[in-house]
Amino acid sequence: MTTPLVPHQPLSPDEVAARYAKPVPRYTSYPTVPYWNNMPYKRERWMDLVAASAGDGVSVYIHLPFCEKLCTYCGCNKRITKRHSVEGPYVDALLAEWEMYRQALPEGTVIQQLHFGGGTPTFFGADQLQRLTSKLLKGFTIPSRRDFSVEIHPAVTNRDQLARLADNGFNRVSIGVQDVDQEVLTLINRPQTIQQVANTVQWSRDLGYKSINFDFVYGLPKQGQHQIKNNLKITEQLSPDRIAHYGYAHVPWQSLGQRAYDETHLPDPARKWALREQADAGFTELGYQRIGFDHYALPTDRMARAARSGKLSRNFMGYTTHKSSALLGLGCSAISEVGGAFAQNHKVVEDYSNLVTAGVLPHVRGHQPKGRDTEIARSIRNLLCTGKTRLPNFDLGYTLPVLERLLPSLKEGLVEINGLEVHLTEIGKTLSRHVALAFDERYWLKRPSTRTFSQGV
Ligand SMILES: C[S@@+](CC[C@H](N)C(=O)[O-])C[C@H]1O[C@@H](n2cnc3c(N)ncnc32)[C@H](O)[C@@H]1O
Ligand code: SF4
Repeated sequence: MTTPLVPHQPLSPDEVAARYAKPVPRYTSYPTVPYWNNMPYKRERWMDLVAASAGDGVSVYIHLPFCEKLCTYCGCNKRITKRHSVEGPYVDALLAEWEMYRQALPEGTVIQQLHFGGGTPTFFGADQLQRLTSKLLKGFTIPSRRDFSVEIHPAVTNRDQLARLADNGFNRVSIGVQDVDQEVLTLINRPQTIQQVANTVQWSRDLGYKSINFDFVYGLPKQGQHQIKNNLKITEQLSPDRIAHYGYAHVPWQSLGQRAYDETHLPDPARKWALREQADAGFTELGYQRIGFDHYALPTDRMARAARSGKLSRNFMGYTTHKSSALLGLGCSAISEVGGAFAQNHKVVEDYSNLVTAGVLPHVRGHQPKGRDTEIARSIRNLLCTGKTRLPNFDLGYTLPVLERLLPSLKEGLVEINGLEVHLTEIGKTLSRHVALAFDERYWLKRPSTRTFSQGV
């Protein structure tokens, strides 16, 4: 039991919205990308680091950027095209990049995690997915306890694609539902039916996929209580193992498609928070366990078990059950994290492809950890994943300012502090990114005033 230093006043939903509707990073890395020191590694040094970090196996993220149609709400890195002739050359580029890693990795290295993200991975036909996956995995060890997952847009996925991926070891799907309401879907230019969602669920189960995730987004234009109710209904009917419930990130200066709709149709922060609360109550009533600040899982799912045993981790893909010291990101815009260092690939498909085809690492920016980076990264990860962290007692010059910056969170009931132990309360777990700012002394506190991050509520 922790003892608060001072008693706190619980915040009402309106107060939460008023106080926390401000930009905040998602902390899928620390430091976050805009604050990297931009010191990419030379190929030889990077590969040495990769080889030295791969002993416990590697995680691989593959970015497949193409989509046929722009969903206007989308904040992902994508390329809109209807020309499927881009598939072959892009797979060639990915395999050329992988060849650089293959040369560096010891024979038989274990691939623990493989994730196809996008864009829309199923923009690629079954044959190209098969070619990419089989060539990628050849010569590596594929463990029986693996996480091989793919992001699925239900309106553009067929059974054959899922079957080929399953044949190559894929065992998890993440289905982009976003919302089931036709008016909301029309406003975000995403024609999609409940039947298509149900089909992808049925095919995945028939093909033996072990875990199905639904992505929902709250705060979309014209979303209200009625829409959340229907999203809960489909969740009850189709019973996914996991749910990612993302707050809509409105960044129209960066994602130009978001300028397409009338901003007055977006729920204000208090309303958005109320939608989150409604969905949260609904998911927990349906038996889902809360995971971190925006995920839910059935208690039997591996993510729920990892959260209960304090083994949940966080990387560029969000919450994960597996902490790997080598996350290799392939494809345009993909991010790698190796032994605490970061690198991001060129975002433009052609720039990326030209470099890898010439045997050059396609990194455009990177970060080599300095000073306390690794320690602060651990504190923030612990806070976001386990709901608690411990401040170092050997350096009061660091610890005291962090404690001081935590005082507003203490007063507002987001944390409890006992000596050097910092614990998040239930509401603190939902607002954990705001609490994490207190630790982010080197970068966030000295940030420029440019717009970069979306609002935390
Ligand atoms: C790479 S994206 C899309 C995957 C797939 N192409 C699809 O559309 O289903 C992964 C997830 O990011 C989330 N997302 C995209 N844009 C977002 C935004 N502006 N705010 C919050 N979440 C967003 C969506 O839930 C989406 O399913
Ligand atoms: S939501 Fe998915 S399909 Fe739509 S534009 Fe974004 S990545 Fe493409």
